[in-house]
Formats: sequence, C-alpha cells, structure tokens
Amino acid sequence: MLQLVYISSVNPAAPCPTQDILTVSRRNNARDRITGLLYADAGRFLQALEGPEDAVEAAYARIRGDRRHRAIVLLSRQQVDRRAFGHWEMAHRAPGADAASFLDEVRRLTADATPDVRGTFEGLVRTRVLA
Ligand SMILES: Cc1cc2nc3c(=O)[nH]c(=O)nc-3n(C[C@H](O)[C@H](O)[C@H](O)COP(=O)(O)O)c2cc1C
Repeated sequence: MLQLVYISSVNPAAPCPTQDILTVSRRNNARDRITGLLYADAGRFLQALEGPEDAVEAAYARIRGDRRHRAIVLLSRQQVDRRAFGHWEMAHRAPGADAASFLDEVRRLTADATPDVRGTFEGLVRTRVLA
C-alpha cells in the first residue's frame, strides 16, 4: 500500500467550504479504498492518503490539480504494510473550539501512524492552534 503526505495553502482566490471537499472525498475515497486524514484550517491543508498504489496516485493527481489550494509540497511517500488511518477523517477546528482538546483529537487520529507522520501532523497543528 502507498501512503502520501502533503501540505498546501488555501488559495485565497478560490476559497471553499471544507464541507464541499469532505463530501466528494468521502464518496471517492470509499469507492477507491483510500483512507487517511485531512487537517484543514483557514490557511493550510495537511493530508495523508493511503491505499492501493494506483488509486492513491490517481487521487493525488486530481488533488494536485485542484485550484482550491496551491503551493502543494509532498512531505512523505512510503510503502506501508497496514493502514495507519482506519477510515478517512477530516480534522477541522471550528472557530472558538478549545485548542488543547483539538490537539488531543489529532493525536488520537494519528496514533497508529509512523512517528514521522505523527510528528508532522502534531507539529503543524501545534503551530497553527496553540501559537
Ligand atoms: C485539500 C483538498 C483535499 C482533497 N482530498 C480529496 C480526497 O481525499 N479524495 C478525493 O477524491 N478528492 C479530494 N479532493 C478533491 C479533488 O481535488 C477533486 O476535486 C475530486 O477528487 C474530483 O472528484 P470527481 O471527479 O468525483 O468530481 C481534495 C481537494 C482539496 C482541495
């Protein structure tokens, strides 16, 4: 199985509710047997995608071409024996939501990931949420 992690920035010229991304992604990812985690806030996306190699490559190609974000950088690409993310999740902190409990939620969602992937999510979320 292939696992990819990328980071990107929200495109201010094409803002969209994260709910729109969530709806399409849930449908496609269930069909393609892709699992992962999408962290989204007002400025950044950080996403892990894992599943059959062809399906993950195809999804990543679609995502890379999506105008709703830009400056996409692939942070990690690795073969994994088993899934770190049991199902596709969207971590999204609503304005005013408690920072510490959100960080706990991200820790829970990344608990089975490798230390580097876990550290990437936790590191970004810390700087975004607790700064
Ligand atoms: C930050 C971000 C994350 C996305 N994640 C996924 C995803 O996990 N799976 C997916 O199929 N599409 C995802 N999309 C949407 C794709 O870019 C694309 O719009 C969608 O796959 C097209 O699906 P359709 O061909 O069924 O209309 C994401 C888009 C953005 C901006």
